[in-house]
Amino acid sequence: MKILVTGGAGYIGSHTIKKLGRKGHELLTIDNLSTGHREAVLFGGFKKGDIRDPVFLKRVFSAFRPQALIHFAASAIVPESVTNPLPYWENNISAMVTLLRAAVEHRVKMAVFSSSAAVYGEPEKVPITEDHPQHPANPYGMTKLVGEGILADCDLAHGLKSVCLRYFNASGLDPDGELVEDREVETHLIPLVLKVAASHERSRMAAKAREQSRLRPVKPAGCPALLRATSDSQSSGAGSSLRPVRAYGPEGEQGAKARPLRHAPSAMRSVVHIFGNDYPTPDGTCVRDYIHVNDLAQAHILALEWLSREKRSGAFNVGNGRGYSVRQVVETARQVTGLPIPSQDVPRRPGDPAELVASSVKIRKVLGWKPEFPELEKIIASSWAYFGRGIEGRK
Ligand SMILES: NC(=O)c1ccc[n+]([C@@H]2O[C@H](COP(=O)([O-])OP(=O)(O)OC[C@H]3O[C@@H](n4cnc5c(N)ncnc54)[C@H](O)[C@@H]3O)[C@@H](O)[C@H]2O)c1
Repeated sequence: MKILVTGGAGYIGSHTIKKLGRKGHELLTIDNLSTGHREAVLFGGFKKGDIRDPVFLKRVFSAFRPQALIHFAASAIVPESVTNPLPYWENNISAMVTLLRAAVEHRVKMAVFSSSAAVYGEPEKVPITEDHPQHPANPYGMTKLVGEGILADCDLAHGLKSVCLRYFNASGLDPDGELVEDREVETHLIPLVLKVAASHERSRMAAKAREQSRLRPVKPAGCPALLRATSDSQSSGAGSSLRPVRAYGPEGEQGAKARPLRHAPSAMRSVVHIFGNDYPTPDGTCVRDYIHVNDLAQAHILALEWLSREKRSGAFNVGNGRGYSVRQVVETARQVTGLPIPSQDVPRRPGDPAELVASSVKIRKVLGWKPEFPELEKIIASSWAYFGRGIEGRK
C-alpha cells in the first residue's frame, strides 16, 4: 500500500515506519524535523516540509498519490499546551485541516490518526472504554478530541474512513537498538528517570577516574573521555556524553545507505521530580498505562488492514489495561538498572488526571491486537539499552 506518513521522523512514527517498511509497504515520510530526526526514518522516502504549508502538501500528494495517510505530526507536550495553547491549536488543528484538505482533494480514502488518552480527561471509571465521556483536562487533549471530530466529518462528507488510535503512555524502544527516543524538551517519565540513572552513574564513574588519576602520576587510557562526560552531564543543554548510536537506513529517496544516527541521550538530569503525591491513587502518585512503542506501531498496521477490509471508521484505545504509579515506575527502573535513582516530590502540575488506564478489550477483539511487551520491566529495559549506553558493567 502507498502510505504518506506525517511526523514519521518522530519517536512513534519512526518505530511504525520500521514495521511498515518491513512488511513491504511503499512509504513517504513528511516531517519538518522540529522534534524528529531524519536518520530515524529507516524505510521509504523522506521530504522535509511542514504540514501547515498547503503548497508543499499539494506537491507531495500530487507526486506520491498515497492510498492511505498516517498522521503523527503534532505538538505533544501536555504542560506546554497549558501554558502556551495557541501553537497547539495551530499545529494540531489548523495544520490538520490543511493536511486533510489535501488528502480529500487527492481522493485519499483511509487515514490513521494519533489520538490520545488525553481526550478522556479525568476519568469517571477505569479501565477507560472507548465510549467513556470525553472531557479533556488540557488544551493538548482538546486538540486531539477536535481532530477526531474533524475526521468524523470528513468521513460523512468525503468518504475518508479513519481509525483514531488513542494512545496511552507510549514508552520503550526498538529492541534492535536502531531507533532512539531523544527530545530537546523531555516530559515523558521513563526517559527522564533513565536519564537521571545514567547521569548519576556517569558522575560516579568520572569521580572514580579522577580519584585514580590523582593517585597515579600516569594518566590512564580513556580518562579524558570520562572527564568530558562529567562536564557534559552537568550541562542542561542538549549535549551528549555518550557514544553516538548507529542506525542504518535510506538516504533521501535513493535507497539504503548506512549513516550514523547523530543523536544520543541529551539533557542529563540529577533528580526525578514526582509531580503530586496526594492523588486518589494507592500511593498518591499518578497512575498511567505504559505501552511499548512497538506494540503501538503494530496497532497502526492492524488499523490499516481493518480499514482496507471494513471500509468504516472507528476509535480504539491502545494500552495494556494495566496501570503503574509514578513511584512504581521509578522503583522498577531502580531494579532494572541496578542504580539508585534519586526522586523528589514536588507539587502537582495543572492538567494531569490522577489515573489513566485503558480498556484494551475493543482493540484486541476487533483488530486482533495483542501486546508483545506488556511487562513494565521489559519496557524499561528496552529503553535502558539506549539510555544506559557507555556505562561500564551495566546492562
Ligand atoms: N508519546 C506519547 O506518549 C503519545 C501519547 C498519545 C499521543 N501521542 C501522539 O502521537 C504522535 C507522535 O508522538 P511522538 O511521541 O512520536 O512525538 P514526536 O515529537 O517524537 O513526533 C512528532 C513528529 O512530528 C513532526 N512534526 C511536528 N509538527 C510538524 C509539522 N507542522 N509539520 C511536519 N512535521 C511536524 C516532528 O518533527 C516529529 O518528527 C503525536 O501526534 C502525539 O500527539 C503521543
